[in-house]
Amino acid sequence: MDFRIQVTELKDLHKAECDALLIVVGEGTRPEALGKALGSVLGQALQDGDLAYKAGRCLYLHRPAGVTAARVVFAAAGGTTPKAFRAALSAALALLKGGGAQQLLVACALPGPLQAAHAQLLAPTVSEALYVYRHTKPSANAASKLRRVTLACSAAEQVAASQGLALGEAVAEGVALARECANRPGNHCTPSDLAAQARRLGKAHGLDVKVLERKDVEKLGMGCFLAVAQGSRQAPKFIVLQYRGAPKSAGSLVLVGKGITFDTGGISIKPAAEMDEMKFDMGGAASVLGTFRAVAQLQPKLNLVGLIPACENMPGGAAVKPGDVVTSLSGQTVEILNTDAEGRLILCDALTYAERFKPAAVIDIATLTGACVVALGHHRSGLFSPDDALAAELDRAGQESLDPCWRMPLDDEYDEGLKSNFADMGNVGPRAGGAITAAMFLKRYAGKYPWAHLDIAGSAWKSGAAKGATGRPVPLLTQFLLGRSR
Ligand code: BES
Ligand code: MN
Ligand code: ZN
Repeated sequence: MDFRIQVTELKDLHKAECDALLIVVGEGTRPEALGKALGSVLGQALQDGDLAYKAGRCLYLHRPAGVTAARVVFAAAGGTTPKAFRAALSAALALLKGGGAQQLLVACALPGPLQAAHAQLLAPTVSEALYVYRHTKPSANAASKLRRVTLACSAAEQVAASQGLALGEAVAEGVALARECANRPGNHCTPSDLAAQARRLGKAHGLDVKVLERKDVEKLGMGCFLAVAQGSRQAPKFIVLQYRGAPKSAGSLVLVGKGITFDTGGISIKPAAEMDEMKFDMGGAASVLGTFRAVAQLQPKLNLVGLIPACENMPGGAAVKPGDVVTSLSGQTVEILNTDAEGRLILCDALTYAERFKPAAVIDIATLTGACVVALGHHRSGLFSPDDALAAELDRAGQESLDPCWRMPLDDEYDEGLKSNFADMGNVGPRAGGAITAAMFLKRYAGKYPWAHLDIAGSAWKSGAAKGATGRPVPLLTQFLLGRSR
């Protein structure tokens, strides 16, 4: 998709060269401001009750008189916030995407200036509206005819709009990559496929990509990661990505993504219903790849490391058994009481591996617990961090990118559930507070640097009729990283 900015006053929209016009309107939009042709249709539609300044309301017009564009959609926003702007955009795109328009001009007629925060949402919203999964369903309806989307703004808004648009384009590419990876079924997205994706990404965008094989992680002593991987015929891969945008002295940030390409639960096997959804269990890994995609495009002044432990969690003759005790890379021993709590086992070794980069901060991203879905639903990711400043930074990045999270507690009391008679810790605690005990487990491995954990079990994918990956939290992570590059 080709995204552009065009300086056009609202009163001139009727003569803009494009074949569809999307105008976001709302409380405070004066129809007269849109010039005669568009102003009078808008005024009449409001009067006739065919449009109201209420969130979600849209009006489609075909070849209205006196307007160059063959299609016009007025989309009402419930306020002037970026979030309201985004909702109006998606409602209008749903009307336009199946039609014949190739060149769309988007204008914001809400009161107040168009800000970077609004412009930033254009590309991700368009990209999400037009996404069609085709990798294993090539018969799916061909993508929309839209080729170019231009954002209209005033001369005064141009700088902010361009900056916002460029950031949004990078985020949209990153989200698209993450969404596509996560949507691919387990037999099309194995640990080897993930490694190949990472290598391709590295080649295309000048990133350093290294893949540690089973023998390499054996030599290192990643006993927890290997224990999860041992039940599968698919070879485990430990993927290391590096982006260098600043001198070494600037330090590094590290992202760790859970890369379970399929989670059966292992010997503690999951029920059959909806087990297919466990192909999304590499959503954390996908978001790390997506964030690297965005970073490679934006070239911020920072150093970034991505770590992806990737394997399947399978039952079988060689699989790890409940009660088995293994030794992590940190030297701490773990009694695997439930083989379905495998995410923390692959992450703990990656968190220890992260120490060698002397990181300024480490953030792990994982579809870690069903308990997090119970706590927060599918809207907000769970945010866990003992570091108030880092937590606040991530929370702000989530708000700014409209990819929100919510901070959860990490009191020492929650650690008690992890006690084991046979190892330094068990890998599960009581059912209650399960998202927190999972985070407490990780915390035992993340003591040597500022650390945060994002549980994206709810936010990374949708179930039901709209079943599919969301590409989150690529927007949050990208926003956070840009904040660090200044
Ligand atoms: N991948 C799952 C978590 C999950 C569940 C993600 C539902 C998305 C939707 C994870 O590996 C898991 O199985 N967690 C267990 C932990 C339990 C055994 C302590 C869970 O949440 O039930
Ligand atoms: Mn599991
Ligand atoms: Zn899992």
